[in-house]
Amino acid sequence: MVKTIVFLGPPGAGKGTQSQLLQERLGFIQISTGDLLREAVKNQTPLGIKAKSYMDEGKLVPDELIIDLIKEKLSQIGNNIILDGFPRTVPQAKALDNLLANLGRKIDGVILFDITEDEVVKRLSGRRVCPSCGTVYHIIYNPPREDEICDKCGTKLIQREDDREEVIRKRFEVYRDQTAPLIDYYKDYIVKIDATADKEEVYNKITSVL
Ligand code: AP5
Repeated sequence: MVKTIVFLGPPGAGKGTQSQLLQERLGFIQISTGDLLREAVKNQTPLGIKAKSYMDEGKLVPDELIIDLIKEKLSQIGNNIILDGFPRTVPQAKALDNLLANLGRKIDGVILFDITEDEVVKRLSGRRVCPSCGTVYHIIYNPPREDEICDKCGTKLIQREDDREEVIRKRFEVYRDQTAPLIDYYKDYIVKIDATADKEEVYNKITSVL
């Protein structure tokens, strides 16, 4: 039976890092709406052009755009999946329930990444990402072997445009106002984990829950 797992939590909580580990080690497929949107922005698709200003300001992209995007993606994948950064509002969660039901799937678990705003600021201001393969690093907590160069593909790392402190704080506020209500929506099957622990400890906790 294929599994559908939702990763819920503030920006910078480590959702992308853990999704990548589960993808590499256990064969889960990561579906990150943030990555899909950044790709659309880079390619200047109609979606990317509409989404860019919301993302630059740390606001959520409107639900209808996100739901269309995820609908297309979900219909292409039959494996175990991690939904990383989706849903982010109650209307998105309701739409997801319908989409999954139409595909004969359901949500098997929701992992809530618990972390404070100050820790998020520390993590995101030191984050570097590979623009080519998407691998995520941190200049102190998870540095590449060679300064600013991706270990996996040798590309020069970049800092995301929305990883500036004022935008990070805005994203945290948006999380509190619009995404945190999902904790109640999923109350019957949500599992909270301490996201401030070391990356491998967080991974072990998640796999023990899965
Ligand atoms: P998105 O890309 O989803 O950003 P986010 O949720 O804000 O999440 P992040 O990618 O910032 O953090 P993360 O939890 O993945 O942390 P990471 O593993 O990288 O969304 C961007 C924008 O797109 C949104 O603002 C919005 O505009 C739009 N958007 C996306 N989805 C949407 C939706 N559904 N609806 C509407 N709009 C949407 O880790 C962070 C750093 O910490 C890294 O440097 C990492 O190396 C380090 N780190 C990770 N784990 C640890 C650890 N255990 N210890 C120490 N350091 C760690």
